[in-house]
Amino acid sequence: MLAQTIPLLDHGTVTGAVLLLRDISDVRRRDRLLLSKDATIREIHHRVKNNLQTISSLLRLQGRRLSSPEAKAALDESVRRIRSIALVHETLSHEPGDELPFIEIVRPLVRMVEEGLISPEHPVQFAVTGQAGMLPAATATPLAVVLTELLQNVVDHAYPPSADLDAGHVSVDLGQSNEALWVRVTDDGVGLPPGFSLDSATGLGLSIVRTLVTTELAGTIGMSRGAGPHDRPGTIVELRVPIGAVVREEPATGPVPLYRGSP
Ligand SMILES: Nc1ncnc2c1ncn2[C@@H]1O[C@H](COP(=O)(O)OP(=O)(O)O)[C@@H](O)[C@H]1O
Ligand SMILES: [Mg+2]
Repeated sequence: MLAQTIPLLDHGTVTGAVLLLRDISDVRRRDRLLLSKDATIREIHHRVKNNLQTISSLLRLQGRRLSSPEAKAALDESVRRIRSIALVHETLSHEPGDELPFIEIVRPLVRMVEEGLISPEHPVQFAVTGQAGMLPAATATPLAVVLTELLQNVVDHAYPPSADLDAGHVSVDLGQSNEALWVRVTDDGVGLPPGFSLDSATGLGLSIVRTLVTTELAGTIGMSRGAGPHDRPGTIVELRVPIGAVVREEPATGPVPLYRGSP
C-alpha cells in the first residue's frame, strides 16, 4: 500500500487532511516477476556456457587420443570455436539484459589465442585498442567466432617459423561510426600469399568468416596487404557490421551452409 497525506490549510491552520491510498501490490508483483525472469535468463546463459565447456573438454580429451596431427588440429580448432561461443554466454550470465560490452569478449578471446601460441622463439604481442560499445547477443556471438578465426589465422600464417622473424605485433582495433561497428586486425607478418583473393579462398576459417559477416551480420570484409617492408608487409583485415541489423535471427530453413567450394 502506498500512502500520501496532504494537509488542508486555512490561513496557516490545519483544518483537515486528504489521505491518498494506492494499492501497489500488483506493481510490486510485476517487479518481482521481472527480476526473477532476468535471473532465470542469466541462469540459462550460465548453464549453456557450462554445457559448451563440457563439449569442448570432451573434444579435447578425444583429441589427446588421436595420433594424426591433422585430426588433432581439426579438433583443436573446434574446441576454440566452441570456447569463443561459450565466452559470449558467460558474459551474458553476468549482464542484466540481452546486450553485452563487446570489449569483455575481445580481451579473453585474445588471451585464448595467445595461450595456444606461446613459443618462446617466436613471441607475438597482442594489443587491443578502442571500444565497441554494447552489442546484442545476436551480433556478439558471430563476431566472437569471426574474431577467433582472424586471430588464429595470424598465429597460424603470419609468422611461419621458416621465415625466422623477430617478435610479431598484432593489434585489434575497435570502433563505432555511422551506426556501424568496425573491427580491424592488423599484423606485421609475412603477408597474404601471392594471388590471394578473399572471394576464392576455400579454407574453412575464411569460409566461416565470410558467411557470418556477409550473411548473418549483413556486413563487409576487406583483407589487404599491409604497408610494411616487402619481406614483412603484414596483413590488415577490416570488418564493418551495421549495428542492430541482424538479418537472420532464427534459421528459417535449417543451418546456413558454411562451405563454399570444396571442403
Ligand atoms: N594474417 C594472415 N597472414 C598471412 N596469411 C593469411 C593470414 N590470414 C589468412 N591467411 C591466408 O589465408 C588462408 C586461408 O585461411 P583459412 O580460411 O583460415 O584456412 P586455414 O587457416 O585453415 O589455412 C591461409 O591458409 C593463409 O594462406
Ligand atoms: Mg584459419
